[in-house]
Amino acid sequence: MNLLVFPDPSSLVEQAADHILQAAEEAVRQRGCFNLALAGGNTPRMLYRRLAEPDLASRFPWAQTHVFWGDERCVPPDHPESNYRMAADLLLQHVPLPPEHIHRMEGEQPPHQAAARYQARLAEHFGGRPRFDLILLGLGEDGHTASLFPNTPGMDDPDRWVIVAPHDSPPPPLVTRLSLTLPVLNAARRVIVLVSGASKAPILARVAQGDSTLPAAHLQPAEGDLLWLADSQAAAHIHPNS
Ligand code: 6PG
Repeated sequence: MNLLVFPDPSSLVEQAADHILQAAEEAVRQRGCFNLALAGGNTPRMLYRRLAEPDLASRFPWAQTHVFWGDERCVPPDHPESNYRMAADLLLQHVPLPPEHIHRMEGEQPPHQAAARYQARLAEHFGGRPRFDLILLGLGEDGHTASLFPNTPGMDDPDRWVIVAPHDSPPPPLVTRLSLTLPVLNAARRVIVLVSGASKAPILARVAQGDSTLPAAHLQPAEGDLLWLADSQAAAHIHPNS
């Protein structure tokens, strides 16, 4: 496991922000644009605030950046549990990202319709199978990533890029989700998984041991880099040689 461990969440965030900036500069240099998929949940909040701060925001190629989401809760975009709203409040409203470069999953639409529309949006933007320059992900205490929960049907279907993931058991929120599938996550040039806090220590150790029952253990970009960034609390159960 390509894992970097940091003493605290703020040093983890600093490194994550640096990696994202590097990925953005490289993508724009090589291809003229940076296609980024954001994570939801609580862990990225500190990171999004950091990216919005002037010293970093002023160096970021926002005009060439397109923002997508790895997953979304099936709620309206102004709902407190919307991943779009969290990123918009903490980052997108504070940086000069062209509005037409924000590609949110439509949580307010009927889920299967929203999944089909997002798949079409991806096909149009990428001209075929989506290959993101960078996908940010988190890790749930049950081993999910994005909204690929254990036993989510269709999570590894190569012909589907966006699926509807029912979610009626913890961890909360217990709402249906939309999620990119494993083939899309593993097609990315870079995947960064952010893991913070003592509550994630047991599940991160299980992922490190390769527990194949966990969707997060199936992250393996075929032609890309996978980087796990954890704070010391989340990495507390990781043994040095794992
Ligand atoms: C979501 C996220 C989800 C998240 C994990 C970790 O929609 O909830 O995309 O995959 O990354 O559940 O969540 P925390 O960062 O809140 O622990």
